[in-house]
Amino acid sequence: MSDAIQIRCLQTIGEREIQGLSDVLIDCVESGASISFMFPMSRAKAEAYWRSMSASAARGERVVFAAEDAAGEIVGTVTVILDQPENQPHRGDIAKMLVHRRARRQGVGAALLTAAEQCALGAGKTLLVLDTASHAAARLYARQGWQLCGHIPKYALLPNGAPCATTIFFKFLGN
Ligand SMILES: CC(C)(COP(=O)(O)OP(=O)(O)OC[C@H]1O[C@@H](n2cnc3c(N)ncnc32)[C@H](O)[C@@H]1OP(=O)(O)O)[C@@H](O)C(=O)NCCC(=O)NCCS
Repeated sequence: MSDAIQIRCLQTIGEREIQGLSDVLIDCVESGASISFMFPMSRAKAEAYWRSMSASAARGERVVFAAEDAAGEIVGTVTVILDQPENQPHRGDIAKMLVHRRARRQGVGAALLTAAEQCALGAGKTLLVLDTASHAAARLYARQGWQLCGHIPKYALLPNGAPCATTIFFKFLGN
């Protein structure tokens, strides 16, 4: 990855971060990614989502990372969900792995995933789980040692309304 891109753990998610994260979320939905939202994706919906995630992060339930370019613009993000049921304290989830189209295929996704895994390990997590409808994301997870569990057909919708499958992955952290 270019030295110009920095991965930052967002200790607080303020207005500047909400705008940048919303830009990335909107771009990913417009690129056709199945990431919980339908097309057309309004700016208000994107901002409401990140404001809600900001509050969740402030409660310590999740950690949000941002990839920033040399100008300080957010070009990617990933979330580690720490808050789990009391019988799964060792588990975390990875969510909202998003890279703006203008920054893809430069190693930003890989760097975000590495940061997320290190964060989860530091928080005492030994198992991470995620699901994805993206073939590019599935290749990224497999490259970084994630184990494929299987596929669930017709799990969700693409932004244009077409059904899509999801693929479940997990990874044990540490020894
Ligand atoms: C999936 C996603 C996060 C990957 O992000 P990314 O930053 O492009 O990921 P990387 O750059 O680490 O890897 C992507 C590809 O670029 C290649 N690559 C990485 N650095 C490169 C470089 N310097 N030069 C050329 N190619 C490079 C990787 O080998 C990989 O190749 P592959 O497609 O053949 O597997 C991105 O495509 C995305 O945001 N998609 C939409 C949202 C989505 O579906 N997210 C998944 C939700 S689970």
